[in-house]
Amino acid sequence: MAGPLGKDLLGLAPLTAEQIRLVLDTAVPFREISERQIKKVPTLRGMTIVNLFFEASTRTRISFEFAEKRLSADTVNVAVAGSSVSKGETLVDTARNLEAMKIDMVVIRHPASGAAQFLAERIESNVINAGDGTNEHPTQGLLDMLTLRDRFGDLAGKRICIVGDVLHSRVARSNIWGLTKLGAEVAVCGPRSLLPNAIGEMGVTVFNRIEEAIEWADALNVLRLQLERMEAGYIPSLREYNRVFGVTRARLDRAPRDICILHPGPMNRGVEIDSDVADGPHAVILAQVTNGLAIRMAVLYLLAGGKPELAEAAKKGAA
Ligand code: NCD
Repeated sequence: MAGPLGKDLLGLAPLTAEQIRLVLDTAVPFREISERQIKKVPTLRGMTIVNLFFEASTRTRISFEFAEKRLSADTVNVAVAGSSVSKGETLVDTARNLEAMKIDMVVIRHPASGAAQFLAERIESNVINAGDGTNEHPTQGLLDMLTLRDRFGDLAGKRICIVGDVLHSRVARSNIWGLTKLGAEVAVCGPRSLLPNAIGEMGVTVFNRIEEAIEWADALNVLRLQLERMEAGYIPSLREYNRVFGVTRARLDRAPRDICILHPGPMNRGVEIDSDVADGPHAVILAQVTNGLAIRMAVLYLLAGGKPELAEAAKKGAA
């Protein structure tokens, strides 16, 4: 069953600006369902969804699970963290087993870039990429964009700087694809060792000093230093990183405009972001989490063939 997004959501690179806007617009009516006392509509009743997580996750997994349950789908969680079986074989086997169980959708997180696409090409069910290696994390990109749109309205011409460990970040890549498609100006800022060599080819500005980024930006998306993906030698020390690139209150106080701070989580407080920023008036970090649920409901709904114009009716429990 292919809806307006096609069969799968593998990344924001393959989507058009219209498809991205469609997900953002569809998420808005879904947001209200989570405000109710009974947070459930029958939209996906009878559908079976497998959440296949080959890598640690709390917020993304729980967010998908809540989104599925609030739309009344039946869900099964498979956590495969720590499995040392060769990745290709594992996925082929997993794909065959899932098919045999007649499921409708798979949400997959995997440490290998391209794993979601690999699975999508081998099963008929809809596949949603919940983060594949350093490639893409489309629902995170979409929720960041919805949060920015709540704040700024139209994103065209808005200046968003992604700060920190861009090299290891699928969040950065999904943000860059999505934001540039909607006409935002995108920059990255971080130590040279944590920026991909070909970053300029993605159409972004590069800042080497956080002060310049803060001077330029309407919003900063602050990335976690992905220590688990670093073998050695990317930065001298965490303290040094905080001193040179940390998003601190003192630095924000010198910003020429009221800057908006996003962080996809989990945060390393005192490293890439200080606590008084994370908990302060500039941060929209918890709004991102709330929006994440609505974005995932919208994605599930649209992949299941839901009509965008019926999202309002689904909200009322009628579709
Ligand atoms: C991100 C991820 O897993 O890619 N986190 C998330 O989805 N909540 C970013 C990160 O791990 O730093």
